[in-house]
Amino acid sequence: MNVIITGGAGFIGTHVVRLFVNKYPDYHIFNVDKLTYAGNLANLKDLENKPNYTFVKADVCDFDTILALMQREHIDGIIHLAAESHVDRSIKDPFTFARTNVMGTLSMLQAAKIYWESLPEKYEGKRFYHISTDEVYGALEMTHPDGIMPPFTTKASSGEHHLAYGDKFFTEDLKYMPHSPYSASKASSDHFVRAFHDTYGMPTIVTNCSNNYGPYQFPEKLIPLFINNIRHRRPLPVYGKGENVRDWLYVEDHARAIDLIFHKGNVADTYNIGGFNEWKNIDIIKVLIKTVDRLLGRAEGEDMDLITYVTDRAGHDLRYAIDSSKLQRELGWEPSLQFEEGIEKTVRWYLDNQEWMDNITSGEYEKYYESMYANR
Ligand code: NAD
Ligand code: TYD
Repeated sequence: MNVIITGGAGFIGTHVVRLFVNKYPDYHIFNVDKLTYAGNLANLKDLENKPNYTFVKADVCDFDTILALMQREHIDGIIHLAAESHVDRSIKDPFTFARTNVMGTLSMLQAAKIYWESLPEKYEGKRFYHISTDEVYGALEMTHPDGIMPPFTTKASSGEHHLAYGDKFFTEDLKYMPHSPYSASKASSDHFVRAFHDTYGMPTIVTNCSNNYGPYQFPEKLIPLFINNIRHRRPLPVYGKGENVRDWLYVEDHARAIDLIFHKGNVADTYNIGGFNEWKNIDIIKVLIKTVDRLLGRAEGEDMDLITYVTDRAGHDLRYAIDSSKLQRELGWEPSLQFEEGIEKTVRWYLDNQEWMDNITSGEYEKYYESMYANR
């Protein structure tokens, strides 16, 4: 198979590309990435000389380039991850999100349609797999602020902390109710993908995953940002009261799910991916502080005073919680890591790879940081 993975130089893409290149030596993987601020080829240094891997610097909105690539390389499958992915940036600059997430997805779909329909076998053996987010479903209520035992448990949620903060979960049949420009743009792209199946018969799949964490995440997202700030003893900007709930999944478990679904998922189907692993932001932040302190040889918890409550994010979704039981039931997927193990591994990785972090946070990053946090 010849497979395009878009956004392969970003956080999740890095893990998906690495998994596919190493696991499938007889596939050829084309990593198509524009290398925006979020793309970093240093993430994939170990793959540079692999014979079944090619990096292509391209914008997914550049329809002609994508079509030419598909025709030249006889592409059979697409795993589409390239996107603008940060909610706070979408609040400041929604146009960029509509361009990349909506028009970029449409451009990928249209190029695939034209190329695959030109072949004698047409869509036979082809696959367009679109990676999306649980944020398209909107926000869930927090009916149990003190937490209840969740109806399901997985390896990810089997640690000491094992709570759900409401009795509703995101299921695949839920109506889309996006609130942020980011989630609105992802919802729109999901609709286009399904429309290409329903209208042209393209073999598409959409998955909606919960918040990912792990190595190589850009330090604008909660976990890497806060690990780096704790290390430098910089304030930790907690939005609102820190009560918002997110459902966290280790990024390699997401990559394993993508591999499984790309090969075994039902065409035209949707799968939610998550570990039933809800956490209030403030609880995660306390775990991060204790873990970083311990690993840096500081007194555990001595950096708690870095917690700084700042103005809430506009339209801040209260609670995300994924019901991934369909994926577990139908394809047998399960997270492989308990959250506590995943967080320990993640903090260690960022502390062991300070050069990676320092390279990213030099230069332009300071301007971004100032613009985001100076007036909050
Ligand atoms: P990221 O921001 O870390 O990486 C995005 C990558 O896409 C970067 O390498 C960037 O250079 C590339 N890119 C951006 N615009 C492009 C364009 N116009 N053309 C080509 N490449 C472009 O994002 P991520 O966190 O790895 O997310 C990947 C995908 O997974 C996104 O579609 C996102 O919506 C989805 N997702 C993310 C999460 C999460 O927690 N991070 C959860 C669920 C779903
Ligand atoms: P983030 O990592 O941006 O992911 P998302 O908004 O896609 O869920 O944020 C995770 C949670 O952490 C979210 O509720 C917002 C909150 N947050 C803060 O409190 N402070 C911060 O500086 C950031 C980046 C996020």
